[in-house]
Amino acid sequence: MKITYLVFIALWIFGCTVSKNKQIEPGKILPDNNGIHINAHGAGFLYHKGMYYMFGEHKIEGKKGNSAQVGVHCYSSENLIDWKDEGIALKVIEGNSDHPITKGCVLERPKVIYNQRTKQFVMWFHLELKGQGYKAAQTGLAVSQSITGPYSYVKSLRPNAGHWPINFSEEQKKKEYDYSINRWSEEGREAVVSGMFVKRDLKGGQMSRDMTLFVDDDAKAYHIAASEENGTLHIRELADDYLDFTGKYVRVFPEESNEAPAIFKRHGKYYMISSGCTGWKPNPARSAMAQNIMGPWEALGNPCRGTEEQVKTTFHSQSTYVIPVHGKEDAFIYCGDRWRPENAIDGRYVWLPIEFEGDKPIIKWYDKWNLSQLDN
Ligand code: GAL
Repeated sequence: MKITYLVFIALWIFGCTVSKNKQIEPGKILPDNNGIHINAHGAGFLYHKGMYYMFGEHKIEGKKGNSAQVGVHCYSSENLIDWKDEGIALKVIEGNSDHPITKGCVLERPKVIYNQRTKQFVMWFHLELKGQGYKAAQTGLAVSQSITGPYSYVKSLRPNAGHWPINFSEEQKKKEYDYSINRWSEEGREAVVSGMFVKRDLKGGQMSRDMTLFVDDDAKAYHIAASEENGTLHIRELADDYLDFTGKYVRVFPEESNEAPAIFKRHGKYYMISSGCTGWKPNPARSAMAQNIMGPWEALGNPCRGTEEQVKTTFHSQSTYVIPVHGKEDAFIYCGDRWRPENAIDGRYVWLPIEFEGDKPIIKWYDKWNLSQLDN
């Protein structure tokens, strides 16, 4: 009995040492506990009771994988190195083509947060209705009592119908627009900056595409998404139960086409990593900082350091999340997607440590790196 016990402890210590020495290899195949490349793209992460959970888009082979054929895949890990397949957390609906999350819709960038008060896991995602391209620009909601699911679909919508952004003047509210104007003309751009699309969508709700969620230290949660025809980010306060919008939101960087937002907090300041807007093709990342999540936000420029090609393409990736590493001070991991739209399932994960030059987040390339690099 005693020997079995000792062998078990020895194996456990050996396992921990192996994991500790395991490295993160950005852009390489990332095997799960079954040796299969992790299938969770546009992912979000949640740390809960000593475990990290990763939720992302399950893709299939070929171009068809760019639409949702399966749903949201969940993985769990104690150390961000060894990932266990937890199965499909939210399944697309088969056999009902009228359902908003019917198989073949576009269901992207799922993010899960935990509501302490209701003890519910709350998932928001970007939803495009089947057969409508990217026209619907909605956000969807699903909930579960259990972190790995199954999540039940609740609703999808364009947020904040009938509400003006809090950083919108009386003058802006009164302005009249010619909605047939060419958006890319000088006049069109000016109109977008001043809020043409906010006004157009006031009644039906604001557009919502690439998105993330952020829960602050006071348990208030925010939904951050590309809105206004992808021109402007909206940072929206969620209700206390996280299941609705309160109507309080701000416009950030009007007409600067930020996508793929990821938010983290360090030393009481809020940071954002985002991308430009070039579809599946990579582009230069951006970074920004704010004293208050509702702004004002200050642009800090491209956080990437490296060769011209690396800086121009964000190491051939697009941001999706920044993981705050539990138990380590000031330790954050940039998580990006290296999309493979021709064979969606082969998309890769580019995870890199976030470093700081003073107050500025910096991302550098490492072929391989170890989590101990984040120790201060
Ligand atoms: C990207 C976006 C992805 C996906 C893609 C479709 O800009 O970040 O999530 O929507 O466009 O082309």
